[in-house]
Amino acid sequence: MCGIVGVVGNRNATDILMQGLEKLEYRGYDSAGIFVTNAQHQSKLVKSVGRIEDLRQKLGIDIAGTAGIGHTRWATHGKPSIENAHPQTSTSGRFVLVHNGVIENFKEIQDRYLKNDRFIGQTDTEIAVHLIAKFAEEDEKMPVLDAFKKALDIIEGSYAFALMDAEDPETIYVAKNKSPLLLGLGDGYNMVCSDAMAMIRETSEFMEIHDKELVVLKKNSAMITDYAGNPVTRDSYRAELDLSDIGKGTYPYYMLKEIDEQPSVMRQLIQRYTDADGAVNVSDAIVRAVQEADRIYIIAAGTSYNAGFGAKMMLEALTQTPVELGLASEWGYGMPILSERPLFIFLSQSGETADSRQVLVQVNELGYPSLTVTNVPGSTLSREASYTLLIGAGPEIAVASTKAYTGQIATLAFLAKAVGETDGLQAASDFDLVKELSVVAQSIEASLSEKDKIAKIVQNRLLTTRSAFYIGRKQDYYVSMEAALKLKEISYVQCEGFAAGELKHGTISLIEKGVPVIAVLSDPLLASHTRGNLMEVAARGASTITIAVEAVANPGDDIIVTNVHPWLSAIAMIVPTQLIAYETSLQRGLDVDKPRNLAKAVTVE
Ligand code: M6R
Repeated sequence: MCGIVGVVGNRNATDILMQGLEKLEYRGYDSAGIFVTNAQHQSKLVKSVGRIEDLRQKLGIDIAGTAGIGHTRWATHGKPSIENAHPQTSTSGRFVLVHNGVIENFKEIQDRYLKNDRFIGQTDTEIAVHLIAKFAEEDEKMPVLDAFKKALDIIEGSYAFALMDAEDPETIYVAKNKSPLLLGLGDGYNMVCSDAMAMIRETSEFMEIHDKELVVLKKNSAMITDYAGNPVTRDSYRAELDLSDIGKGTYPYYMLKEIDEQPSVMRQLIQRYTDADGAVNVSDAIVRAVQEADRIYIIAAGTSYNAGFGAKMMLEALTQTPVELGLASEWGYGMPILSERPLFIFLSQSGETADSRQVLVQVNELGYPSLTVTNVPGSTLSREASYTLLIGAGPEIAVASTKAYTGQIATLAFLAKAVGETDGLQAASDFDLVKELSVVAQSIEASLSEKDKIAKIVQNRLLTTRSAFYIGRKQDYYVSMEAALKLKEISYVQCEGFAAGELKHGTISLIEKGVPVIAVLSDPLLASHTRGNLMEVAARGASTITIAVEAVANPGDDIIVTNVHPWLSAIAMIVPTQLIAYETSLQRGLDVDKPRNLAKAVTVE
């Protein structure tokens, strides 16, 4: 993961880097650092363990730098420490490097080329900057760009690099492979960054960098070449991103803001995927791709994987095509026997998840069609798939994904409905998606008005527990999986989402006095069975909690969700569980938005 940012030109580099890092902090937050320099060759390297705020405290006197690079880290090689924080430097201090990614052959490089070098930390990045320095310093005539290229020819793995030479304060050298990176172009200054959102204070003009491309970035130019030195010409594009989207406003945490945004995400999706007459409007090419498939494979990780399950039943019913889910981190190392005409759907909020991309690369090599459903236009998975459907949920900054989950299911609903209608399926015409999603939006609003009640449930039943279970059947089981992920991710409660009927086959032995077991109940045919399982755990001392839709609610249920269409129940049922997770984390005094050990975009394998 990690976030990198660089700037060169007529701006105060320290300010720009620090603002950029604050916006990139979601990508990693265990240590951070910046290097700034100016035309007088004054320079400053500051690093700290902890958050960007800790780095800010250490900045000291500003040197009026006009160029620099910065980094916020999610540790892969070596623990969070000053030594391992980036920027990393060569022995002489001349070369300074920030890196997002993982260098797979760093040990071989060290053994083969850098046997006599002394390293102060454990990072693969330190090896890379030493390698570049070795090539540049052992042949004084070699331009830095050539030394960088020579190193890149040896380095294997994923990287977004920004390199500076202290002897040349007017140039940043950039290279990318597999890790996200793009240029931001300004008037008299240029930037490079892992995420456009971290540059939008400075510019709305961006330029993509593709894998295995190099950029020589100066204040008035951005020269892109491939590794063989062939120039690359590419148009920049304007993206009018909304600055208010990336602020918390009056909210204490992004997660709460993003949970609250879900009704409007539903309504915006209705706008996005319907035409002026209110008819569902999804690109013909995408509908055809689904029609031509004999099996749909949804590949994803974490919450996006759970969202795939949330949409499976509806997709199968409306496309009349079997849907199989694949964990990206597993499928990257071998796919099962595929059907004859597969369509791969990549679900990803960020569009940058390395595990998913690993599968997409293989899918492309095999020549199969693919569709990315993502929240981030222009992201890697979007660029590399045959087709894209955007969720348009606005930036999701909290590490715990909420509105992307509900947005993904709703987006897939439009796809399913469009395919079903094109196929002339009665069930598709009967499914009034615009109306049903409006009902869902109202249901979410009703759940959001229950925050105080949910806070009390958490205070009384979840505040001190070490473990918990969510249980449900079918669709409610899938919701339980996501609900459990949310709770454990931000409150550190060990929680499992379990198929209700499966408990008695072993896991019920974990139930002891006071363990919270939360049942998700939305299916009239299955609710009584799940209630039976709840009785079984209650008889063994569990503290039971029920989340039920009105249609199946009993007196005494803890949280009631207003009725929604069964195909969309995962969207409505998840909301109280998001609030439970939020409240548990909050009441335990944890950092809701930035849980330990995690980062938002998982761009390493
Ligand atoms: O960006 P993606 O949707 O591809 O990310 C996948 C997972 O890393 C992500 O959903 C993760 O599980 C969330 N932090 C869960 O809240």
